[in-house]
This record gives sequence, structure tokens and C-alpha cells, in this order.
Amino acid sequence: MFICPVCGLSLFPDANSLKCKNNHCFDVSKSGYVNLLTTAKHNPKNSGDNAEMVTARAQFLEKDFYLPLAEHIADTVKSANHKTVVDCGCGEGYYTCKIAKAVLDSSVFGIDISKHAVSHAAKAAKKHRMSNLKYAVASAFELPFAENSADVVVSVFAPVTNNEYARILKPHGTLIIACPESDHLFELKSFLYENPYKNKPNVYDLPDFKIYDSKRISFEIELFGHDIMNLFAMTPYFYKTPREAIKRLENLDRLKTLCDFSVIVYKLNG
Ligand SMILES: C[S@@+](CC[C@H](N)C(=O)[O-])C[C@H]1O[C@@H](n2cnc3c(N)ncnc32)[C@H](O)[C@@H]1O
Ligand SMILES: [Zn+2]
Repeated sequence: MFICPVCGLSLFPDANSLKCKNNHCFDVSKSGYVNLLTTAKHNPKNSGDNAEMVTARAQFLEKDFYLPLAEHIADTVKSANHKTVVDCGCGEGYYTCKIAKAVLDSSVFGIDISKHAVSHAAKAAKKHRMSNLKYAVASAFELPFAENSADVVVSVFAPVTNNEYARILKPHGTLIIACPESDHLFELKSFLYENPYKNKPNVYDLPDFKIYDSKRISFEIELFGHDIMNLFAMTPYFYKTPREAIKRLENLDRLKTLCDFSVIVYKLNG
């Protein structure tokens, strides 16, 4: 299903690599992912989330704190035509793996620009023997898939691009976007800042799509010790919080906070 990022032809397995008919060749790593990010355009070593963020997010998500969201996303994929599913900006593959387990008869692909994240995701897929799940390092703005080749595109807290998602989706294909809502982690923000703001509404420029369904998912989580700092490291506040507030958070034993998300389902215009 992956296409060559150099010439656009289909890639086929060839020993421990994927190759196109023009002999462009991409090694498959030991854990099973392929790097399709060409150095001509990006620096694959330093793109996307770094190792520290990847570890924090993986440790947090593996404890299933966001399970209600993951289950809703997997159910939404299952209720659509789902022969071929692409998770764009898949990170460490927490949601990708839940999706792949829900639709074992489908082919599920995860792509992310961060090599650290994809490497983690591929190792987890190998460990769980997920044969319907494949990963590549690639950009959401230059997806390594042919036109009209995917039934579902998923983007969970990841970049959203009208043109690439519309290009790879089949007619009337499904786009599922998960995003934070106004009250997401408000108690965490209240602990860090004197005047915490609610999140602004998410606005997506998707002229080739129309909204088909939308569901708000809100639930409370209670965190102790290291889980609090792992959650913090997953957020944008990680980079913009004063040192003094971070110190206070490091000394916090217990945090109860609201998780507030929307899962928006779009259909590609016919
Ligand atoms: C907030 S994380 C979400 C990861 C995952 N979907 C999750 O929710 O666990 C955003 C992800 O988007 C990736 N990302 C950022 N820019 C990207 C791009 N241009 N193409 C693909 N992935 C990108 C980052 O590397 C990161 O893994
Ligand atoms: Zn090629």
C-alpha cells in the first residue's frame, strides 16, 4: 500500500526492504517500520516529537487513562467502511493499535514524522503480533499513499490537511479527527497558572469535507506521582510553564482533572 516518496510508484517487499519498479529502495527496520521521509526535504532524525516526549506519552497512554476516547475512535472506525485505514500523526501507536485490534480484517497504517515515535509504535505492534498494522516515518503533508486508496483517515491531536487527506481517501471516504475541547485538563492548568484559559474551539479548514457526526467525550482522571509529570510532558504547557510552577507540579502527589475531547467525523465530498 505504501508508495515510493521519490517517484510515486507502489512499493513491494524485497528481502528486508521495500522497493519500487524504479529500484528506489527503503530498508525495513528490525521492528518492522520503514522510513519514507526523504532527506532531501526533511531531517528525519530531528522531525516531530523527541524521545523524551515520546517516552512520557507512551508511559501515560499505556496505562489506559484515555481509554474511553480510544474505544470511541476504534468504534467509529469500525462503523465506517474500513478496509484500509491510515492514522496520520500516529505517535507511539496507542490509538492505531486499538483501531487495528478492532478491525482485524482491515489493513491499518500509521505514519508519523517522528522516527522515535514510529520506532516505539512498530516495536509494540511486533510485540502484540499485529499483522494487519504497518508503520512508516512520513509527513502528513506528503502521505506515502496513492490517490483514492484509503477508506478512513484518522488524525488524533495531529496535523490536519485538507488536500492530502482528500487525495488519498476514496470517494465518500471517512475522516476522523480527535481534538481537545474547552475544558480539557482545566484543573492541571489551574494548578499551573493564576489565570488559566479554557481552550479555544478547534477550527479546521476542510473545504473538501462535510461534517457527518460529532461526539464530545468528557471524563475525569485521577493521577498519582510520575503519571502527573508524564501527562504534563504531553501537553503544550510543557514548553511554556515557568520553572517555579513546574517545581510545584513535581511535588504534587495527586491530581484529579477533567479530560474533554471531541471526535468529529467528516465525509469526503463526492
Ligand atoms: C500530540 S502528538 C499525537 C500522537 C498520537 N496521535 C496520540 O494521540 O498519541 C502529535 C504527533 O504528530 C506528529 N507530527 C507533527 N507534525 C507532523 C507531520 N507533518 N506529519 C506527520 N506527523 C506529524 C508528531 O511527531 C506527534 O507524534
Ligand atoms: Zn521510486
